[in-house]
Amino acid sequence: MKTTVVTGASSGIGRAIARILGEGGHHIIAAGRSERRTAPVVAEIQDSGGSAEFLRLDLSSFDHVRTAAVDLLARGRQLDVVINNAGVGIARGSTTDGFEPRFGINHLGHFLFNRLLWDAFREGTRIVTVASSAHFRVDGIDWDRVAKPAWAPIGLDLYAFSKLANILYTTELARLKPEWRTYAAHPGLVNTKILPGFVRLLRGYRMQTPEQGARTPVFCATDPDLANESGGYYARGERATPSTAARDDELARELWERSERWCGLDADL
Ligand SMILES: NC(=O)c1ccc[n+]([C@@H]2O[C@H](COP(=O)([O-])OP(=O)(O)OC[C@H]3O[C@@H](n4cnc5c(N)ncnc54)[C@H](OP(=O)(O)O)[C@@H]3O)[C@@H](O)[C@H]2O)c1
Repeated sequence: MKTTVVTGASSGIGRAIARILGEGGHHIIAAGRSERRTAPVVAEIQDSGGSAEFLRLDLSSFDHVRTAAVDLLARGRQLDVVINNAGVGIARGSTTDGFEPRFGINHLGHFLFNRLLWDAFREGTRIVTVASSAHFRVDGIDWDRVAKPAWAPIGLDLYAFSKLANILYTTELARLKPEWRTYAAHPGLVNTKILPGFVRLLRGYRMQTPEQGARTPVFCATDPDLANESGGYYARGERATPSTAARDDELARELWERSERWCGLDADL
Protein backbone atom coordinates (compact mmCIF):
# COMPACT_ATOMS: atom_id res chain seq x y z
CA MET A 1 0.00 0.00 0.00
CA LYS A 2 1.38 3.40 -0.98
CA THR A 3 1.60 6.08 1.69
CA THR A 4 0.62 9.52 0.46
CA VAL A 5 0.72 12.88 2.24
CA VAL A 6 -1.76 15.49 1.02
CA THR A 7 -1.40 19.03 2.39
CA GLY A 8 -4.51 21.17 2.57
CA ALA A 9 -6.67 18.03 2.70
CA SER A 10 -9.49 19.80 4.53
CA SER A 11 -11.18 21.34 1.51
CA GLY A 12 -11.31 21.94 -2.22
CA ILE A 13 -8.87 20.19 -4.51
CA GLY A 14 -6.81 18.67 -1.65
CA ARG A 15 -9.86 17.05 -0.14
CA ALA A 16 -10.79 15.59 -3.55
CA ILE A 17 -7.23 14.34 -4.14
CA ALA A 18 -7.15 12.70 -0.70
CA ARG A 19 -10.51 11.00 -1.28
CA ILE A 20 -9.68 9.76 -4.78
CA LEU A 21 -6.29 8.36 -3.77
CA GLY A 22 -7.64 7.01 -0.46
CA GLU A 23 -10.47 5.21 -2.21
CA GLY A 24 -7.90 4.00 -4.76
CA GLY A 25 -5.90 2.16 -2.10
CA HIS A 26 -3.34 4.70 -0.86
CA HIS A 27 -2.89 5.19 2.88
CA ILE A 28 -3.57 8.92 3.22
CA ILE A 29 -1.89 11.24 5.66
CA ALA A 30 -4.33 14.13 5.53
CA ALA A 31 -2.42 17.22 6.58
CA GLY A 32 -4.32 20.28 7.69
CA ARG A 33 -4.10 23.11 10.17
CA SER A 34 -7.46 22.20 11.74
CA GLU A 35 -8.32 18.69 12.90
CA ARG A 36 -12.00 19.62 13.00
CA ARG A 37 -12.01 20.65 9.31
CA THR A 38 -9.83 17.71 8.20
CA ALA A 39 -11.59 14.95 10.19
CA PRO A 40 -14.46 14.62 7.68
CA VAL A 41 -12.17 13.61 4.80
CA VAL A 42 -10.34 11.12 7.04
CA ALA A 43 -13.76 9.65 7.97
CA GLU A 44 -14.92 9.58 4.33
CA ILE A 45 -11.85 7.58 3.31
CA GLN A 46 -12.22 5.20 6.25
CA ASP A 47 -15.96 4.75 5.59
CA SER A 48 -15.17 3.77 2.00
CA GLY A 49 -12.88 0.99 3.30
CA GLY A 50 -9.63 2.91 2.90
CA SER A 51 -7.15 4.06 5.52
CA ALA A 52 -6.24 7.59 6.53
CA GLU A 53 -4.86 9.54 9.43
CA PHE A 54 -4.62 13.22 10.36
CA LEU A 55 -1.43 15.29 10.59
CA ARG A 56 -1.54 18.79 12.04
CA LEU A 57 0.35 21.09 9.68
CA ASP A 58 0.27 24.87 9.67
CA LEU A 59 2.47 26.08 6.84
CA SER A 60 2.42 29.69 8.02
CA SER A 61 5.00 29.07 10.76
CA PHE A 62 8.41 27.41 10.38
CA ASP A 63 8.14 26.18 13.98
CA HIS A 64 4.81 24.51 13.26
CA VAL A 65 6.20 22.97 10.06
CA ARG A 66 9.14 21.54 12.01
CA THR A 67 6.80 20.11 14.65
CA ALA A 68 4.66 18.49 11.93
CA ALA A 69 7.70 16.96 10.23
CA VAL A 70 8.96 15.51 13.53
CA ASP A 71 5.47 14.10 14.21
CA LEU A 72 5.29 12.54 10.74
CA LEU A 73 8.80 11.04 10.84
CA ALA A 74 8.02 9.54 14.27
CA ARG A 75 5.20 7.56 12.67
CA GLY A 76 7.89 5.60 10.85
CA ARG A 77 6.36 5.45 7.38
CA GLN A 78 8.23 5.64 4.09
CA LEU A 79 6.51 8.14 1.85
CA ASP A 80 5.60 7.18 -1.71
CA VAL A 81 3.82 10.39 -2.68
CA VAL A 82 3.77 13.90 -1.23
CA ILE A 83 1.22 16.31 -2.64
CA ASN A 84 2.01 19.95 -1.87
CA ASN A 85 -1.50 21.25 -2.38
CA ALA A 86 -2.31 23.69 0.45
CA GLY A 87 -2.46 27.29 -0.57
CA VAL A 88 -3.87 30.74 -0.01
CA GLY A 89 -4.90 33.29 -2.62
CA ILE A 90 -6.19 36.19 -0.57
CA ALA A 91 -4.10 37.20 2.42
CA ARG A 92 -2.69 40.22 4.17
CA GLY A 93 -0.03 40.69 6.82
CA SER A 94 2.72 38.13 7.08
CA THR A 95 3.55 34.60 8.11
CA THR A 96 4.86 34.10 11.64
CA ASP A 97 8.37 34.43 10.26
CA GLY A 98 7.66 37.70 8.46
CA PHE A 99 7.15 36.60 4.85
CA GLU A 100 4.40 37.60 2.45
CA PRO A 101 1.70 34.97 3.19
CA ARG A 102 1.18 33.56 -0.32
CA PHE A 103 4.91 33.05 -0.84
CA GLY A 104 5.43 31.99 2.78
CA ILE A 105 2.66 29.39 2.84
CA ASN A 106 2.40 28.21 -0.78
CA HIS A 107 6.15 27.96 -1.33
CA LEU A 108 8.37 28.37 1.77
CA GLY A 109 6.21 26.27 4.10
CA HIS A 110 6.18 23.40 1.62
CA PHE A 111 9.89 23.82 0.84
CA LEU A 112 10.77 23.37 4.52
CA PHE A 113 8.21 20.62 5.13
CA ASN A 114 9.48 18.55 2.18
CA ARG A 115 13.11 19.10 3.09
CA LEU A 116 12.57 17.84 6.63
CA LEU A 117 10.91 14.70 5.23
CA TRP A 118 13.74 13.70 2.89
CA ASP A 119 14.74 10.82 5.19
CA ALA A 120 11.33 9.23 4.64
CA PHE A 121 11.56 9.38 0.83
CA ARG A 122 12.61 6.33 -1.15
CA GLU A 123 13.69 5.69 -4.75
CA GLY A 124 10.85 6.89 -6.97
CA THR A 125 8.96 8.94 -4.36
CA ARG A 126 6.73 11.40 -6.21
CA ILE A 127 6.53 15.02 -5.09
CA VAL A 128 3.56 16.69 -6.76
CA THR A 129 3.16 20.43 -6.24
CA VAL A 130 -0.14 22.05 -7.15
CA ALA A 131 0.90 25.10 -9.15
CA SER A 132 -1.19 27.36 -11.38
CA SER A 133 -1.32 28.96 -14.81
CA ALA A 134 -1.43 32.20 -12.78
CA HIS A 135 2.38 32.00 -12.85
CA PHE A 136 2.20 33.36 -16.43
CA ARG A 137 1.26 36.77 -14.92
CA VAL A 138 4.82 37.49 -13.76
CA ASP A 139 8.22 37.19 -15.37
CA GLY A 140 10.23 36.72 -12.20
CA ILE A 141 9.99 36.89 -8.40
CA ASP A 142 10.21 40.23 -6.62
CA TRP A 143 12.46 39.11 -3.74
CA ASP A 144 11.84 42.26 -1.70
CA ARG A 145 8.06 41.97 -1.82
CA VAL A 146 7.89 38.27 -0.95
CA ALA A 147 10.13 38.80 2.07
CA LYS A 148 7.89 41.32 3.81
CA PRO A 149 4.22 41.67 4.86
CA ALA A 150 1.55 42.25 2.23
CA TRP A 151 -0.53 45.37 2.75
CA ALA A 152 -3.43 44.40 0.46
CA PRO A 153 -5.44 41.15 0.67
CA ILE A 154 -5.75 40.77 -3.11
CA GLY A 155 -2.44 40.69 -4.93
CA LEU A 156 -2.56 38.64 -8.09
CA ASP A 157 1.12 39.20 -8.74
CA LEU A 158 1.96 38.04 -5.20
CA TYR A 159 -0.05 34.86 -5.77
CA ALA A 160 1.69 34.45 -9.14
CA PHE A 161 5.15 34.73 -7.51
CA SER A 162 4.22 31.85 -5.20
CA LYS A 163 2.93 29.70 -8.07
CA LEU A 164 6.01 30.45 -10.19
CA ALA A 165 8.05 29.38 -7.15
CA ASN A 166 6.09 26.09 -7.06
CA ILE A 167 7.24 25.29 -10.61
CA LEU A 168 10.84 26.42 -10.12
CA TYR A 169 11.01 24.33 -6.93
CA THR A 170 9.82 21.32 -8.91
CA THR A 171 12.50 21.67 -11.59
CA GLU A 172 15.31 22.35 -9.14
CA LEU A 173 14.37 19.43 -6.88
CA ALA A 174 14.35 17.18 -9.96
CA ARG A 175 17.85 18.38 -10.85
CA LEU A 176 19.21 17.89 -7.31
CA LYS A 177 17.49 14.58 -6.61
CA PRO A 178 17.19 12.44 -9.76
CA GLU A 179 16.19 9.43 -7.65
CA TRP A 180 12.82 11.08 -6.90
CA ARG A 181 10.08 12.21 -9.29
CA THR A 182 8.76 15.75 -9.17
CA TYR A 183 5.78 17.26 -10.98
CA ALA A 184 4.08 20.67 -10.95
CA ALA A 185 0.36 20.31 -11.68
CA HIS A 186 -2.05 23.05 -12.76
CA PRO A 187 -5.60 21.96 -11.81
CA GLY A 188 -7.46 24.45 -14.04
CA LEU A 189 -10.02 26.93 -12.72
CA VAL A 190 -11.84 25.21 -9.86
CA ASN A 191 -14.76 26.41 -7.75
CA THR A 192 -13.18 26.47 -4.27
CA LYS A 193 -12.89 28.85 -1.36
CA ILE A 194 -9.48 30.09 -2.49
CA LEU A 195 -11.27 32.32 -5.00
CA PRO A 196 -12.89 35.62 -4.00
CA GLY A 197 -16.61 35.21 -3.23
CA PHE A 198 -17.74 37.51 -6.05
CA VAL A 199 -15.77 35.48 -8.64
CA ARG A 200 -17.43 32.28 -7.45
CA LEU A 201 -20.81 33.94 -7.51
CA LEU A 202 -20.42 35.28 -11.04
CA ARG A 203 -18.44 32.48 -12.67
CA GLY A 204 -18.75 29.49 -10.35
CA TYR A 205 -21.26 27.68 -12.54
CA ARG A 206 -18.69 27.59 -15.37
CA MET A 207 -15.82 26.31 -13.26
CA GLN A 208 -14.62 22.79 -12.59
CA THR A 209 -15.61 20.89 -9.48
CA PRO A 210 -12.81 20.01 -7.01
CA GLU A 211 -12.99 16.41 -8.27
CA GLN A 212 -12.33 17.62 -11.82
CA GLY A 213 -9.55 19.86 -10.54
CA ALA A 214 -7.95 16.87 -8.80
CA ARG A 215 -7.46 15.00 -12.08
CA THR A 216 -4.08 16.42 -13.10
CA PRO A 217 -2.49 16.19 -9.61
CA VAL A 218 -3.80 12.61 -9.29
CA PHE A 219 -2.47 11.81 -12.77
CA CYS A 220 0.97 13.09 -11.71
CA ALA A 221 0.79 11.10 -8.47
CA THR A 222 -0.16 7.81 -10.07
CA ASP A 223 0.36 7.46 -13.82
CA PRO A 224 2.90 4.69 -14.49
CA ASP A 225 3.92 6.33 -17.78
CA LEU A 226 5.26 9.32 -15.82
CA ALA A 227 7.71 7.17 -13.86
CA ASN A 228 10.51 8.18 -16.23
CA GLU A 229 9.71 11.90 -16.19
CA SER A 230 10.68 14.41 -13.52
CA GLY A 231 10.67 18.18 -13.16
CA GLY A 232 7.85 18.92 -15.61
CA TYR A 233 4.71 21.06 -15.61
CA TYR A 234 1.35 19.42 -16.31
CA ALA A 235 -2.06 20.82 -17.18
CA ARG A 236 -5.26 19.19 -18.48
CA GLY A 237 -3.77 15.78 -17.71
CA GLU A 238 -0.71 16.15 -19.93
CA ARG A 239 2.76 17.68 -20.10
CA ALA A 240 2.57 21.40 -20.80
CA THR A 241 5.00 24.26 -21.34
CA PRO A 242 5.21 26.76 -18.48
CA SER A 243 6.34 30.38 -18.88
CA THR A 244 9.85 31.42 -19.87
CA ALA A 245 10.55 32.46 -16.26
CA ALA A 246 9.42 29.03 -15.03
CA ARG A 247 12.05 27.47 -17.32
CA ASP A 248 14.87 29.72 -16.05
CA ASP A 249 17.37 27.38 -14.36
CA GLU A 250 19.32 30.26 -12.81
CA LEU A 251 16.15 31.60 -11.22
CA ALA A 252 15.35 28.12 -9.90
CA ARG A 253 18.81 27.93 -8.29
CA GLU A 254 18.46 31.38 -6.78
CA LEU A 255 15.03 30.48 -5.37
CA TRP A 256 16.48 27.33 -3.85
CA GLU A 257 19.38 29.15 -2.19
CA ARG A 258 17.18 31.93 -0.85
CA SER A 259 14.60 29.42 0.40
CA GLU A 260 17.26 27.48 2.29
CA ARG A 261 18.54 30.66 3.87
CA TRP A 262 15.09 32.00 4.69
CA CYS A 263 14.00 28.68 6.22
CA GLY A 264 17.15 28.59 8.32
CA LEU A 265 18.40 25.37 6.73
CA ASP A 266 22.00 24.25 6.56
CA ALA A 267 22.96 23.79 2.92
CA ASP A 268 24.17 20.23 3.67
CA LEU A 269 21.27 19.16 5.91
N1 LIG B 1 -9.16 26.83 -7.27
C1 LIG B 1 -8.50 27.13 -8.37
O1 LIG B 1 -9.06 27.61 -9.38
C2 LIG B 1 -7.01 26.87 -8.44
C3 LIG B 1 -6.36 27.11 -9.66
C4 LIG B 1 -4.99 26.87 -9.74
C5 LIG B 1 -4.31 26.40 -8.62
N2 LIG B 1 -4.95 26.20 -7.46
C6 LIG B 1 -4.18 25.71 -6.30
O2 LIG B 1 -4.84 24.59 -5.75
C7 LIG B 1 -4.41 24.43 -4.39
C8 LIG B 1 -5.61 24.09 -3.53
O3 LIG B 1 -6.47 25.21 -3.47
P1 LIG B 1 -8.07 25.08 -3.52
O4 LIG B 1 -8.48 25.74 -4.79
O5 LIG B 1 -8.49 23.68 -3.27
O6 LIG B 1 -8.46 26.07 -2.34
P2 LIG B 1 -9.10 25.80 -0.88
O7 LIG B 1 -10.38 25.06 -0.99
O8 LIG B 1 -9.12 27.14 -0.25
O9 LIG B 1 -8.04 24.87 -0.18
C9 LIG B 1 -6.84 25.39 0.33
C10 LIG B 1 -6.30 24.42 1.36
O10 LIG B 1 -5.07 24.95 1.86
C11 LIG B 1 -5.16 24.92 3.29
N3 LIG B 1 -4.35 25.95 3.92
C12 LIG B 1 -4.49 27.29 3.82
N4 LIG B 1 -3.59 27.90 4.61
C13 LIG B 1 -2.87 26.93 5.22
C14 LIG B 1 -1.82 26.93 6.15
N5 LIG B 1 -1.32 28.06 6.66
N6 LIG B 1 -1.32 25.74 6.56
C15 LIG B 1 -1.81 24.59 6.09
N7 LIG B 1 -2.84 24.52 5.21
C16 LIG B 1 -3.35 25.69 4.78
C17 LIG B 1 -6.63 25.13 3.59
O11 LIG B 1 -6.91 24.71 4.93
P3 LIG B 1 -8.11 25.34 5.82
O12 LIG B 1 -9.29 24.49 5.56
O13 LIG B 1 -7.58 25.23 7.20
O14 LIG B 1 -8.29 26.76 5.36
C18 LIG B 1 -7.25 24.23 2.55
O15 LIG B 1 -7.22 22.90 2.94
C19 LIG B 1 -3.69 25.73 -4.02
O16 LIG B 1 -2.30 25.50 -4.00
C20 LIG B 1 -4.05 26.68 -5.15
O17 LIG B 1 -3.05 27.65 -5.37
C21 LIG B 1 -6.30 26.41 -7.34
